[in-house]
Amino acid sequence: MNHEAASALDFSSDVVIELDQWHRRTTIPEELLALAERDIPQFWDRIARDMLEWIVPPQQTLRWEPLTAESVAPVARWFDGGILNVAVNCVDRHIRTWRRNKAAIIWEGEPGDVRVLTYYDLYRQIQRFANVLLSLGVRKGDRVTIYLPMIPEAVIAMLACARIGAIHSVVFGGFSAEALRERINDSQSSVLITADGGWRRGSIVPLKRNADQALEQCPSIRHVVVVHRGVEDATHVPMQSGRDQWWHRLMEEVPPSCPPEAMESEDPLFILYTSGTTGKPKGQLHTTAGYLTGVTATTRWVFDIADEDVYWCTADIGWITGHSYVVYGPLANGATVLMYEGAPDYPDRDRWWALVEKYGVTILYTAPTAIRTMMRWGEEYVQRHNLESLRLLGSVGEPINPEAWLWYWENIGGKRCPVVDTWWQTETGCIVIAPLAGRTPLKPGSATFPLPGFAAAVVDERGTPCPAGVRGYLVLTAPWPSMSRTIWGDPERYIQTYWSRFPGMYATGDAAVCDGDGFFWLLGRTDDVLNVAGHRLSTMELESVLVEHPAVAEAAVIGRTDAVKGQVPVAFVTVRESFPIHTGLADELKDYVVERIGALARPAEVHFTAELPKTRSGKIMRRLLRDIAEGRVLGDTTTLADPSVVQHLVQLYREE
Ligand code: WTA
Repeated sequence: MNHEAASALDFSSDVVIELDQWHRRTTIPEELLALAERDIPQFWDRIARDMLEWIVPPQQTLRWEPLTAESVAPVARWFDGGILNVAVNCVDRHIRTWRRNKAAIIWEGEPGDVRVLTYYDLYRQIQRFANVLLSLGVRKGDRVTIYLPMIPEAVIAMLACARIGAIHSVVFGGFSAEALRERINDSQSSVLITADGGWRRGSIVPLKRNADQALEQCPSIRHVVVVHRGVEDATHVPMQSGRDQWWHRLMEEVPPSCPPEAMESEDPLFILYTSGTTGKPKGQLHTTAGYLTGVTATTRWVFDIADEDVYWCTADIGWITGHSYVVYGPLANGATVLMYEGAPDYPDRDRWWALVEKYGVTILYTAPTAIRTMMRWGEEYVQRHNLESLRLLGSVGEPINPEAWLWYWENIGGKRCPVVDTWWQTETGCIVIAPLAGRTPLKPGSATFPLPGFAAAVVDERGTPCPAGVRGYLVLTAPWPSMSRTIWGDPERYIQTYWSRFPGMYATGDAAVCDGDGFFWLLGRTDDVLNVAGHRLSTMELESVLVEHPAVAEAAVIGRTDAVKGQVPVAFVTVRESFPIHTGLADELKDYVVERIGALARPAEVHFTAELPKTRSGKIMRRLLRDIAEGRVLGDTTTLADPSVVQHLVQLYREE
């Protein structure tokens, strides 16, 4: 087992919460559950036919060719022969029913402005925007980058792409110009959709300004569509003529209806960049029918979503959680989704609870880091509001410690709402390990069991299943419809990262343990991926930015355990001899990282050292640095080339 992985085991929760007391529970017919046990592809075939609307139903459920010594790549094709459109599934099919006038999106801006869009409103706006994209020359298979705040236009833009078969690449609005540029250039997008700004903690995130900076070196972009978020007088926003146009103007100029593109099951739906173990983010490619099947089904099973629910997933649209559980999963189910633009502590720390009360939120889906932050702020803010509308709570993004789980359960859910801890990844597309709402018994801190249609195991170095209670690598042992099909432009890396480690199995990169009752406990990453406040960052990504700074010769970044954020980046840096270390240098380097990647990547600490500890083969010993940063007793240092380096580092750390 790779001990680079996170902390010690803490899965010793004795509490088991049985759910007899809940009258609401997910209904999956027993016969279907039995089918999932017997025949996973057949099970998914039934689900896909039942839950999606097809133009032509699929002919072949699954073509699966795992990576072998002879084959060059794993092939997973789901629902071949099927033809459908994702936007039709998320919107058009509802407007033919009573849901036509149902609220699809209830949106509140940070300043308090409110917009409600019915399914029919969405239907109209998506078609108009699809026509805008067509008028800008976007065609099926072309890439469109979306760099927007949490506003309804983000959803409209995504679904408009889906309607015409364009591939969207949403870039989180908190990413810097540099990060945006890298993602645009990798995807070769021809259109960028952004806004003049978005509100965050009372001030403006200058998205258009970042975009302008990024676009200085993005030759593929031909057009920029700018949403006027009302941040400033539109005439003050610099618009490059011939390239930049206002969203609202373009929307007026196009015809109102746009027929959906007939998409094949395996046609790409979107690319989403996520951090891996190298400096370059990976564009995960998700396809049409499999992805939609996965998110539609899991939204129903895990959240038991119903028409009367007001469902709120707090994730930003720039992450996979925003894609799958703000947009595609809930809308495919005809749900009412709450969207909030801003910070949880603006104007005060009770903003989330004010929103829950005001809109009668019934299902809340958020991240452990947010829960721990609220926990630290104290119950006072929670108690200001009546949260009785809530009936289900969800958690995603990182392991939830039993303490936070219990706080969430008691203080937010009033011991009335099941807490569903959901494990999954950008690559899996949808939730994989989680309880079925109201059915699966819960152990605080465990994501419980794989959902029907998924097969997971905990294995050792050789790929052999670990006995109960023994920590190992989490793998998925059967293909599933919403799996990422490849890495955009780099299929080799896809094979290397996920499929070559354990033949025939998908390597998740996570450590886990199964307890004696078969419950899965997730224990963090086994690779050099950090999880900062539920956001993935790679140590390499930060390191390669740091070494670009003129002062830095070498850099090593590790994740230090943090009580609120789960992990925070800590950088160890050696400085070029020609460069005297001055007092402001640590802050300068922190700012440099923010500028190049975004605020989420800001190192909590920067330490200067004469040398970095390395193995004899020259590999930086991150484990050792982590031990130092966390003040632990040093592990085995016999493989170190120059042990005095570590002594020096330990000394240095103590002195600070
Ligand atoms: C971690 C977010 C423990 C895990 C959906 C995974 C979790 C990575 C959980 C994926 C959870 C996510 N318990 N760990 N419930 N959910 N993770 O791609 O390490 O942003 O590999 O997808 O987050 O992060 P990503």
